Amino acid sequence: MLEEEYQARRVLPHHLRKRVPAEAPFEYVVRDAVEADLPHIREIYNYYVTNSTVTFESKPTTLWYWRRKYHEIRKAGAPFVVAASPTSGQVLGYALVAPWSTKTGYKYTVENSIYLGPAATGKGLGRVLLGALVEKARAAGLREMIAVIADQGAEGSIAIHKKLGFKEVGRMAHVGFKFDRWLGTVTMQKSLKK
Ligand SMILES: CC(C)(COP(=O)(O)OP(=O)(O)OC[C@H]1O[C@@H](n2cnc3c(N)ncnc32)[C@H](O)[C@@H]1OP(=O)(O)O)[C@@H](O)C(=O)NCCC(=O)NCCS
Repeated sequence: MLEEEYQARRVLPHHLRKRVPAEAPFEYVVRDAVEADLPHIREIYNYYVTNSTVTFESKPTTLWYWRRKYHEIRKAGAPFVVAASPTSGQVLGYALVAPWSTKTGYKYTVENSIYLGPAATGKGLGRVLLGALVEKARAAGLREMIAVIADQGAEGSIAIHKKLGFKEVGRMAHVGFKFDRWLGTVTMQKSLKK
């Protein structure tokens, strides 16, 4: 028997081959966050706290921290949205705004934050979720949205903010320190004026 013939016989016939399950389509619904989402939101954020420099926080956040944040955002009538799987209900990512400053004169200016679970990145969801956040912030009467983004390892975030019309307004070097290195920030701003 020739060697090529032997190789050919080792391939299983179609009906005996293990079926590769078809990849489920990536589907999501975007809705306002509810209190029951907070444990999932905390888990998503803490993943980046522990494994990345996209946030300069290095201490995992508590549920108490998220509950307080959630109620502050709700009280201010500001947006806090999630993307969830329509079938399992799993939270895939979230986006929110927080006051830029507690000084009253800054009350129409907010800082945004967006985090997707690692498996939900790179599929166009970030752009949709940030777009929804911008529209809700505009509808809530807010005037300017600011993003403060790490200058290393957050290229995806800079890219989606640019796509949504944010403009770079400044950079600061060595303002952060995480994983034994100094890090800087890129500040981007978008006007929400109607
Ligand atoms: C940043 C983040 C929200 C982006 O969302 P995403 O769903 O992964 O990005 P999208 O698939 O919507 O990409 C939108 C656009 O940005 C571009 N982009 C995404 N990642 C990129 C990268 N790393 N470098 C360059 N461009 C990138 C895409 O090509 C896409 O462009 P297109 O619309 O022309 O195709 C998401 O990746 C994430 O949560 N990352 C981890 C946490 C994080 O960095 N949060 C921000 C903290 S400031």
